[in-house]
Amino acid sequence: MDLFEEVKGSRTQFREEYSEIELEKKAIENLRIKYLGKNGIINTYFNKFDQIPPEKKKEFGQLMNSFKQEVQNSVADLKEKLKSDQSSSKFFDPTLPGKSPREGSIHPLSQTMEHILTIFREIGFSVELGPEVETDYYNFQALNFPENHPARDAQDTFFIDNDTLLRTHTSPIQVRTMENQKPPIRILAPGRTFRNEAIDASHYCTFHQIEGLYINDKVTFSELKTTLFLFVKKFFGEEEELRFRPSYFPFTEPSAEVDISCFKCGGSGCDLCKGSGWLEILGCGMVDPNVLSASDIDPEEYSGYAFGIGIERLTMLKYGIGDIRLLYNSDKRFLKQFKNI
Ligand code: PHE
Repeated sequence: MDLFEEVKGSRTQFREEYSEIELEKKAIENLRIKYLGKNGIINTYFNKFDQIPPEKKKEFGQLMNSFKQEVQNSVADLKEKLKSDQSSSKFFDPTLPGKSPREGSIHPLSQTMEHILTIFREIGFSVELGPEVETDYYNFQALNFPENHPARDAQDTFFIDNDTLLRTHTSPIQVRTMENQKPPIRILAPGRTFRNEAIDASHYCTFHQIEGLYINDKVTFSELKTTLFLFVKKFFGEEEELRFRPSYFPFTEPSAEVDISCFKCGGSGCDLCKGSGWLEILGCGMVDPNVLSASDIDPEEYSGYAFGIGIERLTMLKYGIGDIRLLYNSDKRFLKQFKNI
C-alpha cells in the first residue's frame, strides 16, 4: 500500500481510539506513547521520508505535520478534561465528614433586649413601639424639656429640620401611650435611639433603650425601687451590687440613676468605669406632674414611675465587652461567640 494511504488509515484509526478512550490517566498516556512516542507511529512514518519520491516529499511532509498536530491537540484536550473531571464529582470522597448547615446567631443586643422584655412581661408589662423619626414635641416638649435645655442642642441631637429629629430616647413612646390609653398603664418601650456623640469605647451615635412606664393611683417610689431591684437581680444574678444616686431628668421628679458595680475592675476603678468603680445602667424617677398633665392625665388622681435602660451598656456588663463599637462592626468572629448563650 502506498505510504500516503497508510498514514490516512492510521489517522482514521487514531480518531476512533480517541473517540472511545476512557478518561483515565493511564489510557491517555498509552495513546500518547503509541502515536507520539520515540518509536511511535508518527516517528515511524517520518523515518520513511526517504522512500518518498522527491516531487511528493512536500505533500507528505504537510500530511504528517497536520496528523502530528491533531494528535498533540487531542492528547492535550484529554488531559484538560481529566483535570476538570477530577475536581468535580468523579472524585467524590464518601468518607469525608458531612458539612453542617451554617447557622446564624441572634445578635447580643437582641438577646439582651429579649431577656429584659421577658423579665418585665412576667410582672405584667406589655410592649409599645414608636417611630424613630420624631417631632420636637414628643421627644422634648411633652416631656417637660425647657426651651433652652442642652439636649435640644444640635450637638446632642440629630435634627432633620427645625421640628423633626431622630429620637434621642424612647421616652416619646411614653407620651404617645399616655395620649391613647387610660391608667392603669404598665408598658415597656423598646427601641433604637440616636445621639450626636463623639464615638469612644462607651459612646456610639446610635444605641438602644427600653423605657418602662407605670401609671396608676398612688404609685410610689418604693414600688419603683422594688421593681428595679427585682430586675437587676434577675438579669445579673444576686451578687451584683446596686446603688440609687439622686439625679435629674426633666420628665421625672424626683429622679435617680441606678449604678451597678463595675464588672471589669470589681469596683477599684478602671478605664471602663472611668475610675469610679460604678457603671450607670439606667435612669428613673417619678413621672413629673407636668408630663402627666400634658397628656391629659390628672396628676391629682394618678402618679407613676418611669425608667430607661441602656441595652448596650447592659450587654457589655453582662458579657464583659469592653468596647461598645464591637456591637456595631458586624465582625463575625465576635458575633459567633453569642451563639449558644
Ligand atoms: N430617657 C432617659 C434618657 O434617655 C432615661 C430615663 C427614662 C430616665 C425614664 C428616667 C425615666 O436618658
